Amino acid sequence: MSYSIATIPGDGIGVDVTAEAVKVLDAVLPGIAWTEFDWSCEQYLRTGAMMTPDGPRLLAEFDAILLGAVGFPGVPDHISLWGLLIPLRRAFGQYVNLRPVRLLPGTESALRDRTATDLDILIVRENSEGEYSEIGGIHNPGRPEEFVLQESVFTRVGCERIIRYAFDRARERSGRLCSATKSNGLIHSMPYWDNIFVRISTEYPDVTTRQMHVDALAAEIVLHPDRLDVIVASNLFGDILSDLAAAVTGGLGLAPSGNIDPTRTGPSMFEAVHGSAPDIAGQGIANPVAQILAGAMLLDHLGEKSAAAAVDRAVCEVLAEGSVRTPDLGGTNTTAELGSAIAKRAAEPTISA
Ligand code: NAI
Ligand code: MG
Repeated sequence: MSYSIATIPGDGIGVDVTAEAVKVLDAVLPGIAWTEFDWSCEQYLRTGAMMTPDGPRLLAEFDAILLGAVGFPGVPDHISLWGLLIPLRRAFGQYVNLRPVRLLPGTESALRDRTATDLDILIVRENSEGEYSEIGGIHNPGRPEEFVLQESVFTRVGCERIIRYAFDRARERSGRLCSATKSNGLIHSMPYWDNIFVRISTEYPDVTTRQMHVDALAAEIVLHPDRLDVIVASNLFGDILSDLAAAVTGGLGLAPSGNIDPTRTGPSMFEAVHGSAPDIAGQGIANPVAQILAGAMLLDHLGEKSAAAAVDRAVCEVLAEGSVRTPDLGGTNTTAELGSAIAKRAAEPTISA
């Protein structure tokens, strides 16, 4: 089967790491038809828009989207985020943001004495509503009585579908699911979320559940990551927890994510958790592994399980050997050198069937 996949390399290191992910996917699944869209902050500065107005219509034709990162100094982050990333997530009903975080072989955890078996967490982040809402505004600007309102949106359908999705993933994995709440502070939205979580849990008697306040859960990720398997969280909480979890497992350069429409009505979109990293942009030293693993998630989503597994295996083997490493992993290799090493390994046939 041949696929057509859109890439949006975006800004900064997004461009470099996307090129490596394309290289690796081509090595395991020849014949993908790639189409690149040069939507970025650079385009915004030139045209006043992050993407063309018909962006979602153009992308709807593709089987999947591979996104680098958007955001760059000179363009406020809310413009890059709300001009491209969030509209695409919403246009295609990508209500799941799936963020697997695990300790990869050959990489070191920021936590003392932790091994791969202690650190293997799947964060299921709500991706379409919650705290990331356009409802609100600044009132009486410039006056002493100036104030700002930022509303959260928690719909019944939105909570139910993300929580159910997380229960399904927990059932496939260890059968353990932890829900992030903050019902002691956010006294309307979080008790609502919690009630739905408890109600849906009755449909999954085989899944062991916990509910933790998000601050305590953040501490749990650092102190007892081995007690956690699948975490379900609202948009903001999931965003913060996944950066934390990525950081303790070995850094942002290793953490992939998928913006997924489980109904498969529109294309799903895969990207690294990290951003455009302006501090190292243009140096060719970004770690491409996160984006390459995002490519593996993309293949998995398309049903190309063995190609996805080949990418995953190649990443693990090359990291375990440790002879090709980018500076964030303590090496001196470039983005392209690590990408090529993984592509070469991924293309090699495996011994086992
Ligand atoms: P960032 O993730 O870009 O960088 C944070 C730190 O991690 C930096 O020190 C960076 O050098 C390092 N880092 C990140 N990825 C790396 C990699 N692959 N290899 C080696 N080191 C890596 O986050 P930051 O600095 O907060 O944001 C920079 C820009 O990216 C902002 O404009 C932000 O809005 C945007 N951003 C975009 C995202 C997206 O497109 N989905 C997600 C997060 C941030
Ligand atoms: Mg984030």
